[in-house]
Amino acid sequence: MDGALNAVAEHEPHAWSTRWPLNSAFIFTFGALGGMLFGFDTGIISGASPLIESDFGLTVSQTGFITSSVLIGSCAGALSIGALSDRFGRKKLLIVSAILFLLGSGLCATATGFLMMVAARIILGLAVGAASALTPAYLAELAPKERRGSLSTLFQLMITFGILLAYASNLSFLGHNLLGVRDWRWMLGSALVPAALLLIGGLVLPESPRYLVNKGDIRNAFKVLTLIRKDVDQAQVQLELDEIREVAAQDTKGGVRELFRIARPALLAAVGIMLFQQLVGINSVIYFLPQVFIKGFGFPEANAIWVSVGIGVVNFVSTIIATLIMDRFPRKKLLIVGSIVMTVSLAVLAVMNFVGDVAVLAVPTMVLIAFYIIGFAVSWGPIAWVLIGEIFPLSVRGIGSSFGSAANWLGNFIVSQFFLMLLAAFGNNVGGPFAIFGAFSLLSIPFVLHFVPETKGKSLEEIEEDMTRR
Ligand code: BGC
Repeated sequence: MDGALNAVAEHEPHAWSTRWPLNSAFIFTFGALGGMLFGFDTGIISGASPLIESDFGLTVSQTGFITSSVLIGSCAGALSIGALSDRFGRKKLLIVSAILFLLGSGLCATATGFLMMVAARIILGLAVGAASALTPAYLAELAPKERRGSLSTLFQLMITFGILLAYASNLSFLGHNLLGVRDWRWMLGSALVPAALLLIGGLVLPESPRYLVNKGDIRNAFKVLTLIRKDVDQAQVQLELDEIREVAAQDTKGGVRELFRIARPALLAAVGIMLFQQLVGINSVIYFLPQVFIKGFGFPEANAIWVSVGIGVVNFVSTIIATLIMDRFPRKKLLIVGSIVMTVSLAVLAVMNFVGDVAVLAVPTMVLIAFYIIGFAVSWGPIAWVLIGEIFPLSVRGIGSSFGSAANWLGNFIVSQFFLMLLAAFGNNVGGPFAIFGAFSLLSIPFVLHFVPETKGKSLEEIEEDMTRR
């Protein structure tokens, strides 16, 4: 791996990107594309898994494993990518993850049985995990400080768009065996398109200027900064470069030991934020909502899928709003408002389902879930990913994002693994699991107040100084 990556590195990796007339909209959209594959590959399986189960004659636990194998791969992918990205750069590893996306999607679409499908989903997971650790740091390192919140939120916007595309793909391919190929193969194979786009993006995108400074390549760092700061003059670009160089010069070398030694407050904040982002139960809604309505309220399957699509739209539109407001309000305030909205909606939902007549509660439950999603989408959804790109010192940013991201996948795995069991334990009353998620939403408030730093409007170098002082 080292040799291959060095060979790419020696081939003047920045020449392309600095020679091409790229504009920043292109750079940030393509830079965030990993989010779309993240959303698509995690969202697609809800529709495809029952079809795969009947086609391959699988047991329920085998199907469950096909769903969760991507999460296991993601955890491993997130953990292994950080040290590599501190060493070889964000850009090259984005290219590696695009190749893994292509390979995983191709193998999923052509899988001939259970084992091949699990292997393909683990490869996809490696790619998703890698992209989830790389992209937030890459976007944060490219963005100007006044717009960093909004530009980094593009990652979450792409995730929600990917989820929506997955639901749309499930709906449009279901029951259509085009060209004699089974519907679920089309569903899983359609991920090849965004994966190819990510690969093209990865080839033409510039390397992160902060990574370049850290490697002592000041000439190319200046070129990239000039390319992405077209609206300011060269003197200001030089000023920004000087600030980056000054802080980078004081940095120690990277690595896990350094992460635990110099970046412990950042690590605690990142891991905590990521665990809470999952333990508030978001993916019980994103992955299992049709099942909730089928099991909890006796919905027919065809209608239940539409509930998901509706929630997917609410999630996406609310995230557009998040990109617009992200740089206007302090991140901590948004997180706390989000926690309050989620706690209140989940508490009302739980009480209502425990004391009310479940037969008439489907619509009010749906409305409360929509409020909960809005609360998540304007706060914890984007901000968790924005923060892990921001709060680590440059020398350990890659590896720090890795740990944060891996915590997210671990939390996701726990919720996805136990949600349906929990629902069954409460006799299919959604009030049970949602009361637990409500309790985590409430607990997230003191966590934010005590452990999360405010990063809005500060340069990454100012944040680094703040965090080191802590
Ligand atoms: C979370 C995902 C979730 C998505 C929903 C992301 O921030 O990390 O687990 O599925 O938001 O929009």
